[in-house]
Amino acid sequence: MYPSFDPSRPVAIIGAGVMGTKVAWACARAGLATRLFDSEPGKAAESIERALGWSGGAERERVASHLTAAPSLDAALSRVQLVFENVPEKLALKQAVHGELGRRAPADAYQGSNASSITCTPLAAASGRPERFFNLNFTDPRRERLTELMASASTAAETKTFAMAWARHIGMIPIETHREQLGYSFNRLWRVIKQEALRQIAEGYATPESIDRAWMLCFGTKMGPCGLMDDIGLHTILSVERIYYEASGDPRDRPPEFLEAMVKAGKLGVASGQGFYTHPDPAYRKPGFLEQG
Ligand SMILES: NC(=O)c1ccc[n+]([C@@H]2O[C@H](COP(=O)([O-])OP(=O)(O)OC[C@H]3O[C@@H](n4cnc5c(N)ncnc54)[C@H](O)[C@@H]3O)[C@@H](O)[C@H]2O)c1
Repeated sequence: MYPSFDPSRPVAIIGAGVMGTKVAWACARAGLATRLFDSEPGKAAESIERALGWSGGAERERVASHLTAAPSLDAALSRVQLVFENVPEKLALKQAVHGELGRRAPADAYQGSNASSITCTPLAAASGRPERFFNLNFTDPRRERLTELMASASTAAETKTFAMAWARHIGMIPIETHREQLGYSFNRLWRVIKQEALRQIAEGYATPESIDRAWMLCFGTKMGPCGLMDDIGLHTILSVERIYYEASGDPRDRPPEFLEAMVKAGKLGVASGQGFYTHPDPAYRKPGFLEQG
């Protein structure tokens, strides 16, 4: 039995970091009863406080009344139709988490991952319910609408339909990567940009500011690749780059040392207040940024 998306049933979001909080916020904004759970005590409640600052007026009230910090994993999973994982981009960790979620979630629940580079098959296999499993990679639902769906060979057609319906319900527009590949479709395009920007910074050809300024001037966007990397979190950028490097073994894919050093020093981007830019008031938002040479 593959029930269709039912907005009256709760959803559980596992991992209350940068991305889990944004997905939970989007669910609550759309009126879904949303439980946010993190293995770090107090983190889900803290993240909800932050998320409440992203909405005003009636929307804030809706988010506040639909988003709760789950005190335990079982409390998070009770009666859910979907459990959606957002833990760090590490294969072994994600597999362990999905094994546990698969054992403890309601039998008819769907299970998904926001994995950025890891493919669907190894996670689906770990879940014990591969036919109900999907990967769905989000952009930032506060300002963008793209999500990328990637299924495994075992994913049921109904599961894909469910994932698309859920994504649309919470304001996203899903596109599908039709064959499994490390990094999805659009995310691989982004990866080429990101990798080239990192290389040019590492080798002294350009600064983060000059790369972003050029990008913003050319494409008319509000931020450039380095601003976006700060938003995503440099620790997540590093994890994803490591996965590409492990897969290819190509020395050109090795993440640059300066990125390793920044993460080691706690410079994670928006999440820590310092990355390529100082947050929450980064230089690229200040008047005159584009005019500088
Ligand atoms: N950051 C982004 O913009 C972005 C965008 C798309 C996809 N993603 C993907 O989303 C996932 C999460 O990334 P993030 O940026 O939110 O990372 P993050 O480091 O900000 O947050 C991860 C959270 O997971 C928690 N966690 C760790 N182990 C856990 C467990 N066993 N059970 C419950 N919680 C656990 C951590 O305490 C932390 O709060 C990654 O797969 C990443 O690739 C991130």
